Amino acid sequence: MASAILSNLSSAFLPSQLSKSSRALFTPHCTPTFKRTSFAAKIRASSTAFVETRPTDPVVVEKDVSSSKNILACPVCYEPVTLIGANVLSVDSARGSSLQCSTCKKTYSGKETHLELTVASGSKAYDDAMPMATEFFRTPFISFLYERGWRQNFVWGGFPGPEKEFEMMKDYLKPVLGGNILDASCGSGLFSRLFAKSGLFSLVTALDYSENMLKQCYEFIKQEENFPKENLILVRADIARLPFVSGSLDAVHAGAAIHCWPSPSAAVAEVSRVLRPGGVFVATTYILDGPFSFIPFLKPISQRFTQASGNNFFLSERELEAVCRACGLVNFTCTRNRQFIMFSATKPS
Ligand SMILES: C[S@@+](CC[C@H](N)C(=O)[O-])C[C@H]1O[C@@H](n2cnc3c(N)ncnc32)[C@H](O)[C@@H]1O
Repeated sequence: MASAILSNLSSAFLPSQLSKSSRALFTPHCTPTFKRTSFAAKIRASSTAFVETRPTDPVVVEKDVSSSKNILACPVCYEPVTLIGANVLSVDSARGSSLQCSTCKKTYSGKETHLELTVASGSKAYDDAMPMATEFFRTPFISFLYERGWRQNFVWGGFPGPEKEFEMMKDYLKPVLGGNILDASCGSGLFSRLFAKSGLFSLVTALDYSENMLKQCYEFIKQEENFPKENLILVRADIARLPFVSGSLDAVHAGAAIHCWPSPSAAVAEVSRVLRPGGVFVATTYILDGPFSFIPFLKPISQRFTQASGNNFFLSERELEAVCRACGLVNFTCTRNRQFIMFSATKPS
């Protein structure tokens, strides 16, 4: 329970729980995201400047993006792996296939629902103990609840909801449509499934550390008729040790996840490593600014929470921009709606 509260602390301290007048007083001065897809709206090009964007154009799939499926790598060596037991990887062929590292020869086996590509994979005597914010999502109960009410609560923190978030992120992803996309920390795959069904990407990798979230994603896919399973793979891995060849991905999406990652900088460094030049990173999270800035000693308090729970608290957009820049990602832009932020940065070409 404690971890539940911690993992959603931002949504627990909602502007919606303040009086209407205090909400009006503290609402961040960014234009709400909801206007962005229908008419010209303002988005933040940096933490200080606004840039006018054009109305959403029709989606055009560009051709000059990589569409190779040879993207998986050994999480120990980062060298490509060879597929054994199947001709192509897809949701259906994970079980019964295995992958072997071309360098260290370690073999990674496909499970019933996903490919197991953690460093500790195959070891019976050792398993990493992750921080509470990560372990929490590994429980079957939370994985089951996630799309059955849990995720819907994010709306209280300003999250517009999956369909709207998907529409918004398509704008950021325009330069890489037609390429491959990693849905990092996909949970039970709400966006991975939308990416796959949209037909806008040559390959979608749904990746999470929680085996139960991946199982749940697999169950949702099984329940859907005519789901395009051939363009989706489910992978279990740690965000800080991504099993992809360097520079092999066109896009990385991470919805509501960076605040759950044990080390956001280690994770974003990995995102940067696996993106090809010109590749796009787009993510969402909460920012504890606005009314939260008035809480005394917020920074040291949030640091203590992070140490205890593994949940990270971002107090300004500048922090997110700084972590992207520190990891070699440029052109930071973002859209805000109360505590919610969708931000994007690119790998320099
Ligand atoms: C709040 S959920 C977000 C799910 C989904 N992307 C969304 O938009 O709703 C956070 C996810 O991060 C995953 N996660 C936490 N720590 C991780 C790690 N070290 N590596 C990979 N995923 C991790 C959790 O398992 C969980 O599924």
